[in-house]
Amino acid sequence: PRRILSGIQASGALHLGNYLGALKRFTALQDQGAPCFLFVADLHAITVWQDPALLAAQTREIAAAYLASGLDPARSVIFPQSAVRAHSELAWILNCTARLGWLDRMTQFKEKSGKHKERSSVGLYTYPVLQAADILLYKATEVPTGEDQKQHLELTRDIAGKFNTDFGVPGFFPLPEPLTQGPAPRVMSLRDGSAKMSKSDPSDQSRINLTDDADTIVSKIKKARTDPEPLPETLDGLAERAEARNLVTLYAALADISREAVLEQFGGQGFGAFKPALAELAVQSLAPVTAEMRRLMAAPDEIDRVLKDGAERAAAVADPVVDDVKRIVGFWRG
Ligand code: TYM
Repeated sequence: PRRILSGIQASGALHLGNYLGALKRFTALQDQGAPCFLFVADLHAITVWQDPALLAAQTREIAAAYLASGLDPARSVIFPQSAVRAHSELAWILNCTARLGWLDRMTQFKEKSGKHKERSSVGLYTYPVLQAADILLYKATEVPTGEDQKQHLELTRDIAGKFNTDFGVPGFFPLPEPLTQGPAPRVMSLRDGSAKMSKSDPSDQSRINLTDDADTIVSKIKKARTDPEPLPETLDGLAERAEARNLVTLYAALADISREAVLEQFGGQGFGAFKPALAELAVQSLAPVTAEMRRLMAAPDEIDRVLKDGAERAAAVADPVVDDVKRIVGFWRG
């Protein structure tokens, strides 16, 4: 049976990359009838410093985004990662399965730790092992994420395979399928077509936040970096034009049409015509999500009920799996 799982870190504002690369796709999978487990990765968030006074609010904000983007808590399980103890328990065991050499290859650690590796938390280094635990704990079959998580998902498969082999339990952990190829797997910065749109970019102009109002969205798209050429008629014409390609991809993903269809409509036209159309589409698509997020954030009781109920339903699946793992490893069970 299918089981979809994914998570979003509780570390600050959500942006259009999170929406198109992840949130919008979760809803589509849910609406195909696949059971979805979606969590707020608060254990992952604290691998870099988080103000304790803000962390719970950030957690509620991600939960609000799940709900506002169309996830139905009756069908999908929405929960805070730290509320299900099994995540931390399995992560430790899998830390003993994963090899240092595997983690040494993780590019996200290299990017995030930067020049100050020795001052990074140990948690930041072992972050992908916790991510593997998140996924394997639910024996997830498919993991929808943006392209930036691809390496972590491949590591998850390696860890699952080694655990199954080491303990002679073939197929105990199914190898999850990474779904990293959505319509907008890597949304780029509005200021630099070679950088990913990211929460940690110091320039707020580089991204569209899910909490931006219509005027801000319009102004950010108007100022987005482009080149002086009109849009090409075919996709090949975008090959060397990263910024133009990004805006066309955004339009296609927001409108649920192909990039070819966007170029059929706008090919030959300049950004003076395309940008206002993209801005209008972005505002129209995001306004209902933003409004619903605001409504939910103003009444956190509703969010808290969803998270509490989700945590119970998640634990009901995860606890028996971690019990099996403890038995397989040979821990004393009394
Ligand atoms: P996070 O919180 O950085 O991002 C949440 C989701 O948004 C996607 N994403 C993007 N997609 C397209 N373009 C972008 N510019 C862009 N930026 C972010 C991410 O790929 C992700 O799908 N490690 C994960 C959280 C996590 C997780 C998991 C995911 C923890 N455990 C288990 C899946 C399964 C992360 O930091 O995502």
